[in-house]
Amino acid sequence: MLCDTVGRKITYLRISVTDRCNLRCTYCMPEEGVPLLDHSKILSFDEITEFTRTAVSMGIVKVRLTGGEPLVRRGIIELVGRIASIEGISDLSMTTNGQLLSLFAKELRQAGLSRINISLDATDPVRYSEITRGGDVQKVFEGIRSALEAGLEPVKINCVVAHSREEKDARDVAAFAAENGLQVRYIQTMDLHKGNFGIVDGGDGGDCPKCNRLRLTATGKVKPCLFSDLEYDLRTLGAKNALEMAVQNKPKRGGHNTTGEFFNIGG
Ligand code: 5AD
Ligand code: SF4
Repeated sequence: MLCDTVGRKITYLRISVTDRCNLRCTYCMPEEGVPLLDHSKILSFDEITEFTRTAVSMGIVKVRLTGGEPLVRRGIIELVGRIASIEGISDLSMTTNGQLLSLFAKELRQAGLSRINISLDATDPVRYSEITRGGDVQKVFEGIRSALEAGLEPVKINCVVAHSREEKDARDVAAFAAENGLQVRYIQTMDLHKGNFGIVDGGDGGDCPKCNRLRLTATGKVKPCLFSDLEYDLRTLGAKNALEMAVQNKPKRGGHNTTGEFFNIGG
């Protein structure tokens, strides 16, 4: 069992499988995109699977795949299948922007994904396209339908808001979710560098005393906290050491992150 110095039990691992994304959300990525990382820097499926196996043997029971956008990683279905076959994971989920979800929902379910979270900040097509710099909200709606049909339930919606759930776009999302039987979590726009973050409305994120998470970046850094520069390199330390060091050094509460970004750590 992984337990940190203030008694928090670490049971949840979030894995960023790629830093690439097919959208450019204003609060996440610069308009021009980001420099592409050399493929050798990105963890292979073998590395991700082996790391996860070690993490599960040490007490991780819940795993979420994130990005960037996880569905743009080539072979993602195979990776989901490999992770799903690890004995001891009780909850395997993914966070996606939904643009490609209608193509993959059924295969994801068949490969062993339990459930899915879909980002949706506005239902108005023009607003959605503005926020995501070119995304098609219709594709998200299709993706949500496919996820429900495939049984990837509960389908949860992540809605990033400037301030509160009372904003126009957030209210539109609430109405859409109510009509379709979906749960919504409202996430205030955070600033990693300035260290602005808050407790997720309707979720568990951002609540330091209850935090049970570790993160693995696409390049193999184990991060004990999103709002900290601490990271332990899987390739140089090995999985067990990197995990133990991350847990031992997990900050009591978040501060700020000067080096990372949402798209390469995972939201
Ligand atoms: N603030 C809050 N959440 C963010 N995400 C990405 N960037 C930010 C940010 N600046 C999260 C959102 C989104 C997920 C993919 O990443 O929850 O739905
Ligand atoms: Fe892509 Fe998600 Fe970042 Fe939007 S928030 S640019 S969908 S990684």
